[in-house]
This record gives sequence, structure tokens and C-alpha cells, in this order.
Amino acid sequence: MSLNAVIANAQALRGDVRVPPDKAITHRVLLLSAVAAGSTEIVPWSAADDCHATLAVLQGLGVPTRLTEGRMRVEGVGLDGLTAPAMALPCGESGTTMRLSAGLLAGQPFRAVLDGGPSLHQRPMQRIAEPLIQMGATVEGAARPGTTERYPPLTIHGRRPLTAISYRPAVASAQVKSAILLAGLFAAGRTTVVEPAASRDHTERVLGQCGVVVRREGLAVSVEPATRFRLPERVTVPGDLSSAAFFLTAAACVPGSHVDIREVGLNPTRTRLLDVLRRMGASIDVEVAENDAWEPCGRIRVAARPLRATTVEAQDVPALIDEIPALMVAACCANGISRVQGVRELRVKETDRIRSMTQGLARMGATVRVSVNDDLEIEGGRPLTGARVDSEGDHRTAMALTVAGLLAEGSTEVTGVDCVGKSFPEFFDLLQSLTDPATITLVEATE
Ligand code: S3P
Repeated sequence: MSLNAVIANAQALRGDVRVPPDKAITHRVLLLSAVAAGSTEIVPWSAADDCHATLAVLQGLGVPTRLTEGRMRVEGVGLDGLTAPAMALPCGESGTTMRLSAGLLAGQPFRAVLDGGPSLHQRPMQRIAEPLIQMGATVEGAARPGTTERYPPLTIHGRRPLTAISYRPAVASAQVKSAILLAGLFAAGRTTVVEPAASRDHTERVLGQCGVVVRREGLAVSVEPATRFRLPERVTVPGDLSSAAFFLTAAACVPGSHVDIREVGLNPTRTRLLDVLRRMGASIDVEVAENDAWEPCGRIRVAARPLRATTVEAQDVPALIDEIPALMVAACCANGISRVQGVRELRVKETDRIRSMTQGLARMGATVRVSVNDDLEIEGGRPLTGARVDSEGDHRTAMALTVAGLLAEGSTEVTGVDCVGKSFPEFFDLLQSLTDPATITLVEATE
């Protein structure tokens, strides 16, 4: 049974919350702790479906794991210890799980199949297949008529050592970069990725924690092969800024709001939304915690102010790629025409987010234009009106349209919101804790 959210126009949001652990970091710590020597405890453990998908893949590769009291313990099997899976490895709906696992599997001397659910079957995989094939792995995906793209399931037959390559991906994608760097651990020399724009650097940071030699120079990042490494016995994962983004945006837009987000990740490759909201006039105060954490973390204090339109340039998009749905809602609230350039990658997320967000916001009375190059233009400053809108099963669309519902006059119904479990199962509970809980009601979908 699927759930819809019915949302009323919100009074001010007030309060202090901690969002669940960062999904992107959790994936990487899981994968690297699995091939580390010794045991790693990941704290706190995320209840997000996508993190469970990575865990299931590792279990399928013979890695022992144990969940106790919100901590996940991974017993690392070392770089030579993964075992050939008996069945297809279940990636759920997680693109990060599939793409990063493919990187690790490229260096394994066995055959493995990575599969997943219906939305994952629509995600392009040629972007990782091509470099991993260049490195010497066999990677086969499903073909479709009229395109050279490859889709899941992916069958990978790894090799060791792989050929060290220097690769320039066509898109700025942390998933692609990470797949190549993880494969690089099993290469015969230095592997380099040169990105067209900087994407999130969590893989580089976790590899650094493992003592693996990672060099960065501008947009180039290189990794040296490894034979054995350890992670610290206990790894603390900060809160997910991409989840916090929905509360930040809601609090920036709903008049009278003041919200504090505690212990949230502040990695500079992820924080562009904060710069953009500030530029739009929101009051955003950031306090970075004084410690030697490998991932910066701290508190964000946001307060509503009248917003003005802004322009986000294409080179900044990777640093707020998952926040664009939330930003589109903020743009509806800001006076003037906002522009977000070069967002084509949104078309190949869990759904085509340009379509799902544009349709949802248009139903609520917003004017959103999309150019042939996939630049967005949003006319803001007019109130949104409540409507029935479809999440299309995309977690970030569901959460962004819920925030739009808080701002709209009248009642909004967002369909299919159970998908928020992919990244943020606690979303509705935490949102209700910040406002009058009666503002949001979850109802069983009748059709
Ligand atoms: C992710 C990177 C981004 C992001 C995704 C998670 C990651 O994808 O959209 O939600 O964990 O590396 P791309 O790197 O493909 O843009």
C-alpha cells in the first residue's frame, strides 16, 4: 500500500533537529571497510534503503556484518577476501551501490551480477562500463534498441591486476570517479580521473583515512594501488546535508521560521546550496565543529527572510546536484527569475527530475521553463497554490514537493511518498517536529 502526504500551508518552522547519517559517506565507508583488514564500526547506522542495498551486496560477497544498537560492525575481509556470489547482488534502487560496487568488482578474479529494482533498470551504466573495460574488466549490461547506452543488470568479470588508466569522464559524477578510483586499488600503477567539474570527494577522503595514497591536483585525482589497509576501528558519519536541504529550504521560505540542524556534514564539495540560499537573502549561519574530523561537520542555523532570485552556473551544479529539487522550490518563493544552468544530469536520477519537478510545480501554479540545453528558468514571487502532485516514486521529488506544499495556499497532496525511505525514512516525523504536526497527514493511497 503506498502513502500520500496531505500538506497544509505551514506556520513558522521552529526547532533543532539532527538528520540521519550521510548516505554517500555511508556507502563508501561500508565498501572500504569490507575490503579493509580488521573490523570497523559505523556510527550511526543509516536506516535508508540505499545503505541497506550496499550492505546486501557486501553480504552477498561474503562479508560478515552485524547491527547492534544503531552501530553497524563490518568485519573486513581484506582486498583478497571477497568471495564469488552465488546469486545476483541486489542493489535495490541505488545507483551509488551499483556503480561503486562495480568498481570494486572490476578487480575481483570472479564473475558477479549486479541487479536492482525498476528505477535502477533505467539508469545509464555505460559511464562506468567504459572505463572499467579500459582497465581490463569484462562488463556487460543490457542493451536497448537505438542506443549504445548500457543498463542493469551488469555482469562483471574482474581481473587482477587491472590496467592503470588516466580517464576523463564526460560528466562530472562522483559515482563514476569513485568506481574508477576503487578499481584503481587493484591496478598495476597509478590510476587518474580528470573531471570536467569538481564532484563530491568522499571517496578520496575515506581512501585517505585508509592510508591509501590519493593525490589531487585541480580537477585531477589519482590513486595508487593498495595491498592492505585498515580503517579506524570506529567511523562516525555526519548528518546528511542533502536530507537537511529540505528543512533548510522550508525554513528559509516559510516566514517566521528559525531552524537549527546539528551535526550535519559540511564537506565543501556538498555545501553549494548554503552559498546559493545566502545569496538569495536567507539568513544562514554555519558553525564548523572544532575537531580533526576527516569530514567537516557542524551546525547550520537558518532563518526565513524575503528571498530574491539568483543564477546558479553549470560548474556549481555538481556541488548541489541532489539539492536542485529543493532549490527549485526556493526559487518559486524568491522575487524575480532564477536560473539554474546545465542540469541535464537530473534527467538520469531516480526519475527524470527535471520533468517530475517541473510538472509538480507547474500544477501548483509556478512558471518553470526548461531550455533545449536543460537550463532551468523559474519565475518566483507569486504564491503557489495547493494541488495533487506526483512524486513519480522519486524520494527527492517527494520531499521537495512536500516543502512546496508547506508554502502553498490551500491543500497539497503529494502521491507515493513512501519512496522517502530511500534516503530519509525519518523525513515526515522530523518535519512534523518542526511545525504544527497537523500540517502534514500521511494517508493510504486509494488508487
Ligand atoms: C552520489 C553522487 C551523485 C548524487 C547521488 C549520490 C554519490 O550522483 O546525485 O545521489 O554518492 O556519489 P553523480 O555522481 O552520478 O552525479
